[in-house]
Amino acid sequence: MSTEPEFQDLYGAHLGEIQARWEASLERCGQDAAVVHSGTPLVSFLDDYEYPFRPNPLFLHWLPLTHHHDSVLLVKPGERPRLYFYQPDDYWYQPPSDPEGWWADHFEIEVTRDAQAWQGMLNGVVNNATAALGDSPDLGGVFSAAQINPSALLTELHLGRTRKTPYEIACMSASSHAAARAHRAAEAAFRQGCSELEIHQAYLEACQQTDDTLPYHNIVALNEHGAVLHYQGRETSAPADSRSFLIDAGCTVNAYCSDITRTYARDGGLFADILAAMDALQLQLVSKVRAGADFRDLHIETHRGVANILDQSGVINVDPEAAVASGLSAVFYPHGLGHFIGLQTHDVAGLIDNQGQDIPRPEGHPFLRLTRVLERDNVLTIEPGLYFIEPLLRRWRENGDVSAINWDVVESLVPYGGVRIEDNVVVTDDGSVNLTRPAFDALQLA
Ligand code: GLY
Ligand code: MN
Ligand code: MN
Repeated sequence: MSTEPEFQDLYGAHLGEIQARWEASLERCGQDAAVVHSGTPLVSFLDDYEYPFRPNPLFLHWLPLTHHHDSVLLVKPGERPRLYFYQPDDYWYQPPSDPEGWWADHFEIEVTRDAQAWQGMLNGVVNNATAALGDSPDLGGVFSAAQINPSALLTELHLGRTRKTPYEIACMSASSHAAARAHRAAEAAFRQGCSELEIHQAYLEACQQTDDTLPYHNIVALNEHGAVLHYQGRETSAPADSRSFLIDAGCTVNAYCSDITRTYARDGGLFADILAAMDALQLQLVSKVRAGADFRDLHIETHRGVANILDQSGVINVDPEAAVASGLSAVFYPHGLGHFIGLQTHDVAGLIDNQGQDIPRPEGHPFLRLTRVLERDNVLTIEPGLYFIEPLLRRWRENGDVSAINWDVVESLVPYGGVRIEDNVVVTDDGSVNLTRPAFDALQLA
């Protein structure tokens, strides 16, 4: 948990806002109260080791308690939220420290040494109209199946999470600043010719986080590895020739994520030119983000921009509009333009409208994670990409118009992998606030 005063000052108002939202949602769904379980660690099959623990994001929406399992929050309209804070008397693992500090004053807190004690404590407090939210198997001991994660209430709460409070935006801004520092260290390690593992270690050192606290598995991809969209390797030896580097890595602050991608070329040339053009396209797309913009339109516009860059760099030899219509642009740009971000890297409610109805993805774009019309205080990523992905190129060679691609140009670019540039932005009425670019700029000034 971070201790910066900026969070402390904003946190009370954040809680007031989500208390009001939850009360309205509970009333609309006919529920008297909600019990939010932080989660119970998962143990590996036939083993006694636990997977890294990630709390229930609905719990984290209220509380910056990022490694606190088996704690339970009771939310009742008109009452201060009550926290059953699990603090085992343990010596195998480090228990959570006492519930003190800037967050604790806002809750009624009961400390328990027993992971099940909350069940007895809630006797007489909850009834058939209480919803239970979480995935702990322990919830089944108290609540009926219909009470656990009722879908109407979940949809309401997910929609509430799409509108970030000033506290949440401050956490995400701090998370971008922490990640930008680490990205700079990673770039320096790339330019020194380090291995993927060494670059990853430089990243962790610079942001003072561990693999378990990062929002997602860092993507640290040298050369052709940049064409594997969620590349998970960590080569321990450096390649003989480090031509290009794609890093997709974030941080967390009070459980709020950043999700940032940068791509670097060691030398000038066609790949570096494509990289510069993609950076310009990314900025142009960010400039179109505003309340009222339909994200599906922005995504299709990205395809046009990518097709133009493919045309100008001699990768394709068909009209860019035709390349979008035929699916050729998707060979080089096969993912979505972005997604909501918050307590989860891929945050909830990107594919439903404010009535909870599905908003379909445009045909031919199965991986788009956000189809909504943007609203003020949404926070999302803008992450156009352009890659040379051998399986997709092979499929086009086998099934598409082979002559539409200049294969010798493609062959010269495959060793560079690809380009992705990703920032995190807050939607405003007349534009957006970029959380990421200023974080990098601040490092250059320092
Ligand atoms: N880091 C995963 C993504 O950009 O969506
Ligand atoms: Mn992303
Ligand atoms: Mn990313």
